Amino acid sequence: MPHIALIPAAGIGSRYGAATPKQYAPLLGTPMLQHTLNLFAANPRIAHIAVIIAPADHWFAQAITLPPNASVHPQGGDTRAQSIANGIAHLLAQRIIQPSDTLLVHDAARCCLPQSALNRLLDALDNDPHAQQHGALLAIPVADTLKRQAAPQLAHSVQTIPREGIWQAQTPQAFQAALLHRALSQSDLSQITDDASAVEQLGLQPALVTGDSRNIKLTRPDDAALAEYFLQQAA
Ligand code: CTP
Ligand code: MG
Repeated sequence: MPHIALIPAAGIGSRYGAATPKQYAPLLGTPMLQHTLNLFAANPRIAHIAVIIAPADHWFAQAITLPPNASVHPQGGDTRAQSIANGIAHLLAQRIIQPSDTLLVHDAARCCLPQSALNRLLDALDNDPHAQQHGALLAIPVADTLKRQAAPQLAHSVQTIPREGIWQAQTPQAFQAALLHRALSQSDLSQITDDASAVEQLGLQPALVTGDSRNIKLTRPDDAALAEYFLQQAA
């Protein structure tokens, strides 16, 4: 089945504090979103890249060079999950994607995804029958010790949480388009923090594929220096 990258890029990046939405902020002189598009464009196993931007976006057209196998859609919503749900509904209705296609949903803000990690996910989708049925996501086993605080406003450690079997989810997260469409349309989108959680609510168990610690999500201004270092190393 064709592998389609779906890139939600309709956020405002409030925590990043740039002059533009963060996906247009430069890293090594190139917008973050351009780095993300380039990494999917460079992988011959990706058939198409669909970018979801905000309806009122006026940066994309002037800042971004769309790769030849990519399309952009101003269907973004109020939350990440809403942007993805809107995007999938639109892409299916316009027959830009087929229900049986595999969608790799990947944050525009994770622009340092190494090709090796992307290829591990694609290998799982191509070869693992469980991943084909339930979907798959990049994730890394938690390395730090986890603490529970006493109360919402009280940062006193009351408990150490066993990290055995606990993973940190990254993106891409990959699902058959029809499955993710169904999962999102049956969930409370305001409660959904990643795509896999919507699919888990259907009773499925997406495969955990080892991600990469370089696959950071740029969230705060401090993250830029590390991202530029990773991008330089990958060049
Ligand atoms: N996103 C989206 N639509 C939204 C909100 C977020 O498409 N309504 C996208 C962002 O553009 C980003 C990804 O989802 O690529 C991950 O979200 P996050 O890192 O939280 O980005 P923002 O929501 O833009 O940042 P912040 O939460 O700091 O405002
Ligand atoms: Mg956000």
